[in-house]
Amino acid sequence: MFSPHAAPDGEPAAILIVDDDPDIRTTMRRILEPRQHRVLEAGDGRSAIAMLEEGRPVSLVISDIHMPGADGIWLLGEVQRRFPDTGVIMLTGDADIARAVECLTLGAMDYLPKPMLVDEVRARVAKALEKRRLQAEVRRLRDQYQADLERQVLELSRKNEAMFLAQVQMAVRMLEAKDRYTRGHSDRVAAFAVATGQRLGLGAAELEEIRLGGALHDIGKIGTRDAVLNKPAELTPEEMAEMQRHTLDGEEMLSVLRDDHPQVLQIVRWHHERLDGSGFPDGLSGDAIPMCARIVAVVDAFDAMTTTRAYRTGQSPAWAYEELHRHSGGHFDRDVVVAFTAAFPDPDQMRRTP
Ligand SMILES: [Fe+2]
Repeated sequence: MFSPHAAPDGEPAAILIVDDDPDIRTTMRRILEPRQHRVLEAGDGRSAIAMLEEGRPVSLVISDIHMPGADGIWLLGEVQRRFPDTGVIMLTGDADIARAVECLTLGAMDYLPKPMLVDEVRARVAKALEKRRLQAEVRRLRDQYQADLERQVLELSRKNEAMFLAQVQMAVRMLEAKDRYTRGHSDRVAAFAVATGQRLGLGAAELEEIRLGGALHDIGKIGTRDAVLNKPAELTPEEMAEMQRHTLDGEEMLSVLRDDHPQVLQIVRWHHERLDGSGFPDGLSGDAIPMCARIVAVVDAFDAMTTTRAYRTGQSPAWAYEELHRHSGGHFDRDVVVAFTAAFPDPDQMRRTP
């Protein structure tokens, strides 16, 4: 579909004359060409549509009503449906006035009686072209208004999202404040996960999802009781179930991100899934676990193993690397373990004071 305004400035408006009588077409050409109009011709409705389909910029179609095959009324309907920027004027004999009026109700801009009077044709064509120009201008302004409105809505929703994320980040800080041993855990998981994703060749958009998902992966623990979170002993089955629920609670808390950040939610829900299906909450296995969640699973496990808790001292990074390798292919994705340990080749550099 084209717009009559797509034609270069100053180029005369093209007018397509459609009539099965070549004499009528020639007469119209002689009337219109001296007025700087580019005139195209077609002998029936289908040929006219074929010319429009070629993308020729046509402002106005002037069509006979009666033509063999596809007639003027058919053409009027097709032009309106498929080329709304192109106006249609009907050509009609005296006997056809009723049909010409019917064409007006169907959307024709005007009708010209045969035989044609030179001045009348020129005046009506000029009027129709001006009306078409104004209609196109109104449409352009409306489209621009719509685009402005959409941009403003988008901007507002971005601001809302940024505010929401800032609040969530604050919740993460509060969560970590509940337990001094896990301070910085979310930031480290985010940084490790992004470096691992880069190693795996993931794109910028996915890395951003992983960064956010890594930072928020344990947000659901805000609802886990301190007595469970920091229990210096083995959890009872009920306490274990409560602890495991942080994956589902976190997904629920962040559900407003579902449309724009689906991978963040996947990470939050599935960062405790294991390749062999022995993880939680869904017992997913293999490729059913999205790559982003597999990455966070590995780096989260590493950080947990090397963190000193209320009930045990953190292991050395070198020991944790061995554990990751030992369980790769079982708990952990082999490629992810390789990528993580390659991204941080010296375990001693990962050592930190609790
Ligand atoms: Fe977790």
